[in-house]
Amino acid sequence: MMNVFEAADTRLSCRAFLDKPVDQNIVRDLLARAARAASGGNLQPWHVYALTGAPLAEIKRQVAAYLADHDPHQEETEYPIYPKMLWEPYKSRREAHGVQLYGALGVGRGDAAGRLAQYKRNFAFFNAPVALFIAIDRKLGPGQWADLGGYIHALAFLARGYGLDTCPQESWARLHRIVRAFVAMPLEQMLFCAVAIGYGDRKHPANAFRSPRAPVAEFCRFLGFD
Ligand SMILES: Cc1cc2nc3c(=O)[nH]c(=O)nc-3n(C[C@H](O)[C@H](O)[C@H](O)COP(=O)(O)O)c2cc1C
Repeated sequence: MMNVFEAADTRLSCRAFLDKPVDQNIVRDLLARAARAASGGNLQPWHVYALTGAPLAEIKRQVAAYLADHDPHQEETEYPIYPKMLWEPYKSRREAHGVQLYGALGVGRGDAAGRLAQYKRNFAFFNAPVALFIAIDRKLGPGQWADLGGYIHALAFLARGYGLDTCPQESWARLHRIVRAFVAMPLEQMLFCAVAIGYGDRKHPANAFRSPRAPVAEFCRFLGFD
């Protein structure tokens, strides 16, 4: 059984999944175990819609039809995914991420069509056989949004225990209207993101790079340590 360090070390945002189904009991188990995540006041503010099989195929079909004549980048989100303009160090980190991802896929900087095609892979869940939509009560605040991240990461690490990979996908927030109608999400909820789940194709170029991290000294000030 994989230990927690290995699970954390091997988690990545998987952008190519194998054509291999996931046992539904494993998905149910992951959803339940991830709810051990801490949340302020134990509010457990996550709402999850889990899709596989025919419903998953159908929402992908609906979205593909919509995106045939809509640019997903032009779709309005219900919350700002990023501030309008990023500043340092975030701006450089985001740019480096794009260079790394598109570089691994051989999509050139000026290749707008290639970039859009890769971005649109989000809306096929990168071929994952299971997809989650994660929503929050829109009256809740930043504290509870942070709790959603805790739930998603608990799930991502636990998934590694089953040899599964995941990809959190904020891009889906752009298609909130289609998602809301499809899963009958009540109006008081807001779509935060999707999470793709499946067995990753670890040899695929999209999964063959490791995203960098800033050294601890860059984001942590130590007080009272030797
Ligand atoms: C909330 C959240 C939303 C994300 N949305 C997307 C997305 O829509 N598409 C995508 O390809 N990656 C998405 N990512 C993945 C990030 O790009 C990734 O976590 C980051 O580059 C670090 O890489 P790693 O997860 O492989 O360690 C998202 C990550 C998080 C935490």
